[in-house]
Amino acid sequence: MAQAAGTTRRVRNMDAIQRRYGQTHRQDNWQKEPLLIILGLGAFAVYTTISAFLGDYWPFEAGINPATGEATYLSPYFEPLFRVEGLPKWFSPAIWILWAPLSFRTTCYYYRRSYYRAFFRSPPGCAVAEPAKTYTGETNFPLVLQNLHRYAMYVAIVFPLFLFYGAFKSFWYGGEIGGEFGIGVGSIILTINAALLTLYTIGCHSFRHFVAGGLNQFSATPFRMVRRRLWEIFTIANEHHREWAWVSMIFVGVADLYVHLVANGVITDLNTWSQF
Ligand code: FES
Repeated sequence: MAQAAGTTRRVRNMDAIQRRYGQTHRQDNWQKEPLLIILGLGAFAVYTTISAFLGDYWPFEAGINPATGEATYLSPYFEPLFRVEGLPKWFSPAIWILWAPLSFRTTCYYYRRSYYRAFFRSPPGCAVAEPAKTYTGETNFPLVLQNLHRYAMYVAIVFPLFLFYGAFKSFWYGGEIGGEFGIGVGSIILTINAALLTLYTIGCHSFRHFVAGGLNQFSATPFRMVRRRLWEIFTIANEHHREWAWVSMIFVGVADLYVHLVANGVITDLNTWSQF
């Protein structure tokens, strides 16, 4: 009896604590993670907005061949490059591109978990009381729109292909495949960037499910060997999805900045062409 009364008292105490927003029994430094997320995601959002929307006001192509006007390096924020004549200069070519990878990222399961905690403090952390009195998950507008992630994924999976193509072209001066072959720091950066974004993309939970996650029986499935092998590979990437999310996000920003700095003559690219 005494033990039962003690348990009831403890449960009541816990209820009282959990009703107060931000209260927790946790003893660790749980505030550190949301703070780092605010700094990281905030810096990326600000930098990307500035870089993408400056467009032609801040050149994003480097190593331009004067004979053809084509560039060796193109910032990944602008890959593939769409130029539409007649639009005002402020209408950056990145606007045609970035909505796809950004909608993929902002609806990503990992990022949702992160920014719900860091920016909306709902919940502030695991086992930390949150402001909402009732829990509706993502069933109401606007959060129900997060379910569009799987559709964003169908669009986003083609972007690593574009990025690999851009990286491949960066090994030829002026991006002219079959022309003057060479290698520069920019070529390496663009290749690593494409690889990291591929690892992030194939580790997507929706993509893994799309490939084979919904199957009950591999043996009764067409292309079973291919699907199984892909599923196994994607599972490895999926296990580190959070890490790939951060590394690929930081690196794509670095790659964009690098191309801008070379394009604007702030730094010189170390390359075998010795021309820019
Ligand atoms: Fe993160 Fe799909 S990209 S879950």
